[in-house]
Amino acid sequence: MDIVEAICSRQSIRGYKPTPVTKEALREILDIATRSPSSDNAQTWEITVVTGEVLDNIKWGNVEKFTSGVAPNPDFALNRLEGVYRQREVELAIQLFQLMGITREDRDKRAQWRQRGFRFFDAPTVIILSADSSLSESRILLDAGLIAQTICLAALNYDLGTCIGVQGVLYPEVIRKFIDIPKSKRIIIGIAIGYPDWDFPANKLESKRESVESITTWYGFE
Ligand SMILES: Cc1cc2nc3c(=O)[nH]c(=O)nc-3n(C[C@H](O)[C@H](O)[C@H](O)COP(=O)(O)O)c2cc1C
Repeated sequence: MDIVEAICSRQSIRGYKPTPVTKEALREILDIATRSPSSDNAQTWEITVVTGEVLDNIKWGNVEKFTSGVAPNPDFALNRLEGVYRQREVELAIQLFQLMGITREDRDKRAQWRQRGFRFFDAPTVIILSADSSLSESRILLDAGLIAQTICLAALNYDLGTCIGVQGVLYPEVIRKFIDIPKSKRIIIGIAIGYPDWDFPANKLESKRESVESITTWYGFE
């Protein structure tokens, strides 16, 4: 697939077929994605790939925490969005809820939707990125961002869809209960990966972007 086509056709997939993803395909995707650049070539990312019963345990462990009202406790601080950033977040939610037929008043359906995020959108496989706690936050987050996007792009070559998801790692204690990622590592992000269910309404979402002109300043051009 052409690089521009891949970048432009990638979208977050929030509904998957149950079809398993083979270890071979995942291995190839990771082989490709580890060609991502990293600061000083330090390759700070550590990768854990989870499927089957272990993943089910994490999904339902997350849901249990969420439904019991336990406050999220991620390995990275997340602050609430404000101003224009909050507006964009709200716009995304409106688009998603419209596609899913969830009304503003329907608290039940909204909560069920949030639960999907804690279940990594029911993807059959999840790639968890983590990094050593001794490393600076800016370094590991930038490196992780680069490899995360490359994983998502490489996945397209295998007809696989992805959704980078912070929600699934908001309760790192759940992940650590089932997977050996010690506290000396910081769990950064989960990437849901699987075959897209194109009949799932949220997969029809076309996310918006600001125009280049509105976010770019040019100097030295005619
Ligand atoms: C760091 C990061 C965390 C994200 N976490 C979530 C999440 O928890 N739930 C979700 O539905 N989407 C999540 N997303 C997906 C974004 O909502 C999505 O990338 C954005 O709306 C643009 O849409 P697109 O990926 O379809 O182009 C996350 C994306 C990134 C980069």
